[in-house]
Formats: sequence, C-alpha cells, structure tokens
Amino acid sequence: MIDLRSDTVTRPTEAMRRAMAEAEVGDDVFGEDPSVERLQREVAALLGKEAALFVPSGTMANQIALLVHARPGDEVVVSEGAHCAWYESGAGAAWAGVQFVVAGSGPMFDVDALDAAVKPRVYYYPRTSLVALENTHNRGGGRVLPQALVEAVAAHARSLGLAVHLDGARLFNAAVASGRTVAELAAPADTVSVCLSKGLGAPVGSLLAGDRARITAAHRLRKMLGGGMRQAGVLAAAGLHALAHHVAGLADDHRHARLFADAAARSPRLSVQPPETNIVMVDLPGVAASRPAEAYAARAKEAGVLLSVFGPTRLRAVTHRDVSEGDCARAGETLAALADAAQTP
Ligand SMILES: Cc1ncc(COP(=O)(O)O)c(C=O)c1O
Repeated sequence: MIDLRSDTVTRPTEAMRRAMAEAEVGDDVFGEDPSVERLQREVAALLGKEAALFVPSGTMANQIALLVHARPGDEVVVSEGAHCAWYESGAGAAWAGVQFVVAGSGPMFDVDALDAAVKPRVYYYPRTSLVALENTHNRGGGRVLPQALVEAVAAHARSLGLAVHLDGARLFNAAVASGRTVAELAAPADTVSVCLSKGLGAPVGSLLAGDRARITAAHRLRKMLGGGMRQAGVLAAAGLHALAHHVAGLADDHRHARLFADAAARSPRLSVQPPETNIVMVDLPGVAASRPAEAYAARAKEAGVLLSVFGPTRLRAVTHRDVSEGDCARAGETLAALADAAQTP
C-alpha cells in the first residue's frame, strides 16, 4: 500500500528507536528530564524564542496558545480552513471559550481583511484578542504563507492590541521550501507551535514557543489539560534525532509531491493544485452532491493507494519519509488512470 493520507503515518527509523532507547530520562512533571529540557532549549533557540514547552500534540499546542492569549467570549481571527477551527473537535469553543472569525479567503489574508474582521472595542461586541496564522496551510494545500504579508498582518495586529499565534505544525516544510529559517518565519508571532510527528518522522510530540512569561503560563495550562508527561525524554529523544537528521529530507518530500502532482495532472479530468510543499490537493470531476471523492478514494485503495477525502470533490495526498519517488509517481499515475477509466463507458 502507498499511504499518502498524511505525513503522520511514518514509523520511527532504527536509528531513532536507538536514540529513544538510550535517552537520559527523569520525571518531567518535576522538571527533571534532561532530554526534554534539551529539546525545549534547542527548539526555542531554533525558533528564536525565549522558551519552548514540549506537549503531546499540535492540537494541545494550539489549544494552550488560545488559552494563553484569549479569554472566554473573545474572538480569534483565522484564515479560511484554519486547523484550529476545523480539526480540533471544537476545542477552542470548549476549553478557551473563543469563537473564530475568518478573515478573507484562502490560506492568508491581508491587513484590510484583518481590519474588516476585528470588531470595534465597544462593550457589546466580542473582544478580538488574537490572530492565529498557519504555515504551511493544511487545507490550503500546503501553501507557504507569503512572509511579507505575515509581517504586515502581524504588525497591524500588534497596533490593534492583538497577539499573534502561528500554527507551524509544518513550519520546517515552509522553511525548506522558502529558503528561510524557521526563526525568520516565526519572528512576527508571539507564540509558535511546531510538530515533530509530521514530516520530521517522530512518533509523538509538538512544542509551543514564545516569551518566558507566556511559556510559564503554558506550562501550568499543559498540566491542567493532562499533558504533563513523566519520563518523556524517550519521546524528546526522537524529536532531537528528527531535528538533527530529518529536516533536509523534507526537500525530497516536496519533490515527490511534484512528481505525484505531475503524474495525476496527465489526466485532463483532474484538476491538480501545483504543490509548494508536501501536500497536493486534487479536484475531481463530478458534482458535490454525488460525492465523487469517496468513490475515488475507495477505488484508489483497491489499486493500492491511500488518499484522504478532503471535501465532496477533493482528495488530498501528503508525501513523507516512508514513501519513495517511485511510490509517489505510481500513486499519481494510478489516480490519473482511475479518472480516465471513469470517463470510458
Ligand atoms: C496545521 C496543523 N496544525 C495542527 C495539527 C494538529 O496536530 P496533532 O495531530 O499533533 O494534534 C495538524 C495535524 O495534522 C495540522 O495539520
């Protein structure tokens, strides 16, 4: 099976498993795990922030950020399809008590769209407290946000008294694709989350980084949410290994995504978004009401290719460390052949 459902399906390599087995550990709830401490220091330095906190998932990192920046009843400005609004089980409403407001359309918005989304500071409006951006943008097809726009929007947000959080679950993909460092990409944000368990190939783990005061608050919130882990150095060691050995390989994932996209686009019946990173969105022929994506995903599975349904007429493919160049080209050809065959009576 060629599994392109997500970059989270990778298995730890032998070398990563060895690093995990050999990790120096302690009780991290007591602040005594040297591997977790080292990971937090390294990631804070990489991201150009004062401190970082190791958490079990990207969802928890985002949710802690919402709790740090907003109060119940506040509004958080996001882009269309933001992960924190779409894929976190309504947690923003349940735990932080915030509501999301979408600015503009697509993966990024401009200063005017931000202005239009922010309510006046009058008591009967919700208070807008946070702008949450996502780089790369998952539902946007792995788009890398234009950095000049991120800087302009963050500066404007700050002038309005809003904080900025960056969901950087795939920030390393954005860095590799844009030739910028993750610190440059994170600089406009007050807090930034990164995931080790996606393209970087670690089994578990994300970090939330920011200034010391916010990360101190985040530490308490992590405990409140049940995210305090004990000998978590076993997991941190996987993350340290991933940062040392797996970042450069993201460029291969991006090349493989282009191979998949080029092969799929050979069918004139498919509309394939040219990928910027490791995510490819494919729009299928047919009307939404007949939900062709589900039928295509089922047929692709029979042909040995796993894809995610991303809408009634849309499939998503994500390349990662555990699929080869040949796998990705073959998966694209398979999808193109299915589309062509569906046309023939
Ligand atoms: C952009 C983005 N943010 C956050 C997350 C959440 O990460 P996790 O699955 O570790 O909770 C994901 C997961 O796919 C994601 O794509």
